[in-house]
Amino acid sequence: MPNDDQTRPLGTQAEGVFASGGPGVRPASIEWTASSAGPRSADFGDIYFAADGLAESRHVFIGGSRIAERIAAGGDIVIAETGFGSGLNFLAAWDAWLSRDMGNCGRLTFVSCEFRPMRKDDLARSHATFPEISALSARLVDAYPALVAGPHDIDLDEGVRLRLIFDEAAAFRFETFTADAWFLDGFAPSRNPEMWRCELLAAVAARSRPGTRAATFTVAGAVRRGLQCVGFDVEKRPGFGQKREMLTATFVGPSRHD
Ligand SMILES: C[S@@+](CC[C@H](N)C(=O)[O-])C[C@H]1O[C@@H](n2cnc3c(N)ncnc32)[C@H](O)[C@@H]1O
Repeated sequence: MPNDDQTRPLGTQAEGVFASGGPGVRPASIEWTASSAGPRSADFGDIYFAADGLAESRHVFIGGSRIAERIAAGGDIVIAETGFGSGLNFLAAWDAWLSRDMGNCGRLTFVSCEFRPMRKDDLARSHATFPEISALSARLVDAYPALVAGPHDIDLDEGVRLRLIFDEAAAFRFETFTADAWFLDGFAPSRNPEMWRCELLAAVAARSRPGTRAATFTVAGAVRRGLQCVGFDVEKRPGFGQKREMLTATFVGPSRHD
């Protein structure tokens, strides 16, 4: 992905330098076509999710990272994501959180990076085909921040905090959280290799602890090897719908920031 955008003063991906905070980011360029099942990125030539996106999100990310089991265990949970996009994965996680035991006083913190954030109207339109989560969608759209570079902390009800970082994903290395689960969702590696590069996977590992789970829709060899290289045990699992396989992973390497 060329970094030739004069409106995005966030340093350069090539140098791995990020200066979060400051002026506006370039919004995502979304294509809506009659034949399109959902939003499509004109920047990357790829879809954000398939027609059955909510069910896919539940299968790949919620199921793959064992979020329901983690919530049932009680206490706080931290989920981190590479690529916020339309926020559909966040809404699926928030929805899963609502089914927790009422005695659970923990918090759900969802941290996600996005360097081409959707405009608010595109965000709302992305969720329109999922009436089941329309109430949560409306609340997210209402709270969605202005497209200003840097982190935005959004406190929603029910102990849910969204930390939405409008920056390149490697900005995770400036964060201090430790994730219980990672949703790795950054377009196909063939279309967006930047999102799967070693430097970024190292930042994922640095914000993980033994037992942290990760899930992704791709089983690309480079992603498998990259995750193994930074300390994850990886496993292929049945994919969603037409996709034969997906990946889940468990962090076994040492945490690098204890
Ligand atoms: C497949 S979409 C994510 C879908 C999203 N999780 C959802 O629930 O709608 C991938 C996202 O990653 C973002 N992205 C791609 N490369 C990035 C990078 N290097 N840093 C931050 N975000 C990136 C894209 O702009 C896009 O929104």
